Amino acid sequence: YPGTYITGLYNRLATNIGGREICNEDFVNAPNWLTLRFKIENEPWIDLNKVKIEKLNRCLNLKTGLLSRSMIVTDAKGRKTLVESGRVASMHNPHLAAIKYRLTALNYPGLLRITSALDGTIINEGVERYKSLNSKHLEPVDQGGSTNFSFLRVKTNQSNIEIAEAARLACDKEVQFTVSSKPGIVHTHVQYEIKEGESIELQKIVSIFSSLETNGDVLKEAKKALEKIVDFNFLYSASKRSWAGLWRKADIKIEGDRMSQRLIRLHIYHLLVSASPHNRKPDAGITARGLHGEAYRGHIFWDELFILPFYNIHFPETARQILMYRYHRLEKAKENAKEYGYKGAMFPWQSGSDGSEETQVVHLNPVSGEWGDDHSSLQRHVSLAIAYNVWQYVNTTGDVDFMKNYGAEIVFEIARFWASKSEPDENTGKYSIKSVMGPDEFHESYPGDSQGGLTDNAYTNLMVAWLFGKVPEIIEMIRDDSGTILEKISLSENEIQRWNDIQHGINLVVNQEGIISQYDGYFDLKELDWNYYRKKYKNVYRMDRLLKAEGKSADDFKVVKQADTLMTFYNLTRETVDKILDDMGYELPSGYIEKNLDYYLKRTSHGSTLSRVVHAQLAKLIGDDELSWSLYSGALSSDFDDVRDGTTAEGIHTGVMAGTIMIALSTYAGIDIRGEVLNLNPGLPKNWKSVDLNIDFKGVNYHFNVKHDVCEITPEKDSIITFKKKTYRIAANKKTTINLKNVSNKL
Ligand code: BGC
Repeated sequence: YPGTYITGLYNRLATNIGGREICNEDFVNAPNWLTLRFKIENEPWIDLNKVKIEKLNRCLNLKTGLLSRSMIVTDAKGRKTLVESGRVASMHNPHLAAIKYRLTALNYPGLLRITSALDGTIINEGVERYKSLNSKHLEPVDQGGSTNFSFLRVKTNQSNIEIAEAARLACDKEVQFTVSSKPGIVHTHVQYEIKEGESIELQKIVSIFSSLETNGDVLKEAKKALEKIVDFNFLYSASKRSWAGLWRKADIKIEGDRMSQRLIRLHIYHLLVSASPHNRKPDAGITARGLHGEAYRGHIFWDELFILPFYNIHFPETARQILMYRYHRLEKAKENAKEYGYKGAMFPWQSGSDGSEETQVVHLNPVSGEWGDDHSSLQRHVSLAIAYNVWQYVNTTGDVDFMKNYGAEIVFEIARFWASKSEPDENTGKYSIKSVMGPDEFHESYPGDSQGGLTDNAYTNLMVAWLFGKVPEIIEMIRDDSGTILEKISLSENEIQRWNDIQHGINLVVNQEGIISQYDGYFDLKELDWNYYRKKYKNVYRMDRLLKAEGKSADDFKVVKQADTLMTFYNLTRETVDKILDDMGYELPSGYIEKNLDYYLKRTSHGSTLSRVVHAQLAKLIGDDELSWSLYSGALSSDFDDVRDGTTAEGIHTGVMAGTIMIALSTYAGIDIRGEVLNLNPGLPKNWKSVDLNIDFKGVNYHFNVKHDVCEITPEKDSIITFKKKTYRIAANKKTTINLKNVSNKL
């Protein structure tokens, strides 16, 4: 399936389904620039579905971004053609791409006809489930060309974004190029009398511009960019150099476990493809499925909470850009809050072009084939993720200016929203937050209730308490400018005092054993007969769909899609959570983390790839290395093994990809970036001999080499690090070795 995606390229279309008008903002598949096909004499085009394919070899070089393919195709008359191609989408300049296409007539002479195209007649059809929805987003504007140059202009039919593609072909043989076109598509044709054993090579250089990236004439820009490219190797060399720079920063070397090594690199590769400093300041966040497919319509979710740390430590300018996407939609978030009767900023669960709520209100259950209500936009915790991301970004990069100019405003408006959602409850004497959903999407409402929403989701309430606790710290951080910001958003002392009251008085439901109830009422739900369902369906990831198809509802059962209450421990250190609980007036028994992990893990189906990452970290925290590894290796291979039955083809899962990288770094190599200074607590998996990596923290670059018994650190400036509650001074540009086994021996 040929997919070309441009960050921020959305288009909204309506479809009538069963008498209901469904409106979706989609991630538009841009015109297909890949088409290159051939035929022999006047026979039909060689169709890979009809010919015999021998020796198919496809290789994606993660280091350089080159995709090469080689295959021998044999047609019905026994003529064999060797087809070799190399393809690259430039990392150096995201507007450029190139293909090298070589055909060898292995056992025949004949007239070879080759056609290249720029095709804007394509529709969005990368996701089977969306097939019944209107998916024609592009309208032709203009197309044409002459000899070896061709161009195409189209525009999206609702958002009016213009896209231009220009292509230049070159051939290593004397050939004539001719161009033909019709609305929405342009072809370039070549023919050549090939001898037996002879080869012909075409190069296709393509440039792509959209009106999102330029105020000027998109076609002019595309032509200008194309003119600068000499040939395939010229483009590829520049791209390779940019890749080398990215890998120098972001690579993680793992010794002892080749599979983990390859998968971690696969994940780094796909994140860098999705966003890197080479993107020209797009006004967009990182989508849940990368620039890799149409699932979730290219929308931006809370998944950035898992993704952003990767950019914070390697590419702060990209991280800042991602947060600016939210800042530019702060007004819309305020409108969203107002519309629902709240104050402050309520960011949408699914965000697209302008920050409106893009979550569908109905959802297709592929098991039953029926449409049902979708309450998932009640996952208001996305706003907490945004506030958390602002805090983490500033903490990791030390970019206090960002906090002053944008971050504080985002955080305070989010705090304001949560304060307006918190209501005192006479029965408990505590503050309560109603009508929300936690990350566990299986629970949308109370049993039998058609209205979505739950009360006192523990993850939400704990993160709200964390957020209010951060407000005085932020005011202190930006002290010289805090007056201006507080004035700008009319934030009074009284309001801040109320936030403080809520922080100390927010409700949690905790049982005798210290299990924190996922929400008020969770303990009353029925237990699920897991053995029965495992036997019946084997794959029980999407327990919600299985239950629905049986006429039941996950809302009635103690079944969890992904870490919910336990998410708190992914975001915050154990000490921070303890302090928050203490401030809230809850005293939990010792070992409560172990008990909560045990309780929830038993009831979790890991219906989201994000789930295992969180549990892996928590298992390590409580010292269960085996459990941690089994969860982690599952997360690590989720896209490689396509564990969600084909959904990887609809787009990679950026959250789990970044999550696994960060667990390698923060949990196993044990470099915790959440505090004021770096805190070390390494504990490599048994089969990893060492982990070697670089990070930037508060403007200082650190090189780490972590083994089971020692950790070597080389910072580029004098630095401070904590390890086992002790503080170490580490000198600049010198390798300092910390003995991990015998703490007292040195330093
Ligand atoms: C998960 C969400 C996630 C979304 C997009 C869902 O399956 O439950 O937590 O935000 O996918 O990745």
